[in-house]
Amino acid sequence: MPTIELDKCIKCLKCVNDCPSNAIDIERGIIDNSCIHCGHCVAICPESTIYPDTGEIQKLQSSTVLPVDFQNLSANTRTCRSFISKEVAHETLQLLIENMKHYPSASNSRPIEITIVKSKEIIQRLNDQTANGLIKMLRFITSPILKPILKAFVPKFNITGLDNYKKKFISRQIPESSQVCHHAPLVMLFHAPVTKFGMASADSYIWATYTSIFAQTLGLGTCFNGFIVKAMERSKVMRKEFSIPANHQVYAALLIGYPKVKYINEVGREKPNMNTV
Ligand SMILES: Cc1cc2nc3c(=O)[nH]c(=O)nc-3n(C[C@H](O)[C@H](O)[C@H](O)COP(=O)(O)O)c2cc1C
Repeated sequence: MPTIELDKCIKCLKCVNDCPSNAIDIERGIIDNSCIHCGHCVAICPESTIYPDTGEIQKLQSSTVLPVDFQNLSANTRTCRSFISKEVAHETLQLLIENMKHYPSASNSRPIEITIVKSKEIIQRLNDQTANGLIKMLRFITSPILKPILKAFVPKFNITGLDNYKKKFISRQIPESSQVCHHAPLVMLFHAPVTKFGMASADSYIWATYTSIFAQTLGLGTCFNGFIVKAMERSKVMRKEFSIPANHQVYAALLIGYPKVKYINEVGREKPNMNTV
């Protein structure tokens, strides 16, 4: 629990008003157990008189990122499916992990754990098992029994496109190919205990998104990998094999490495409709 040093408190009430849990009794200098440990009280105190649960109070540096910088960074952050064989240094990985302390989490519960798959052999196994699961699923969806049913009930579903994708995917699934992991030097798995009311899936994608953007500033390329997430979701055996704790689910997967390709043109893509109510 953060602690308040009442002697130095000037009773400006900034902490009281900013606390999302209304947990602060400033007269008595007590923070009750409804506190979600978000640290807003520590962050806002002009006298630096509220101390965090862990670590020291550090002055926040102001951000120098201009809107145009963020727009350019967003446009430059493209999915990478082609990596050079250069390893990602341990220090770089540490930077990516260290920065996760800043990322938001529902109720600030921060349940996410990270597993990094680095071994070439294990990444290949992850690739092959995911690819084989995907082939099974594609065969099922495009099977002669299901195909006409999907055509009739979901006419907008591009079943012929999927059939074509399946054929190409199967023909390219040969030993040492890497249609899922794209020969990335590492795969970052975001996982958390399964709970009824938690929002670990949302947390994971937010953390993976921040990580992807931060990685871009470090010269790295990334690829979100829904195929791995779906394969892990379905297979307890896979979760065990890749050292995911028994009560956890994998909610996001990110391929990370140095890109082989460089994009030079911005693509014209539609922005979402904006509805005002
Ligand atoms: C939730 C999510 C899952 C994705 N899963 C995969 C995947 O399994 N394999 C893959 O190659 N790309 C995957 N992608 C990347 C998208 O295909 C990519 O973002 C999209 O084609 C747009 O390209 P861009 O990221 O370069 O702008 C995924 C993206 C998201 C957001």
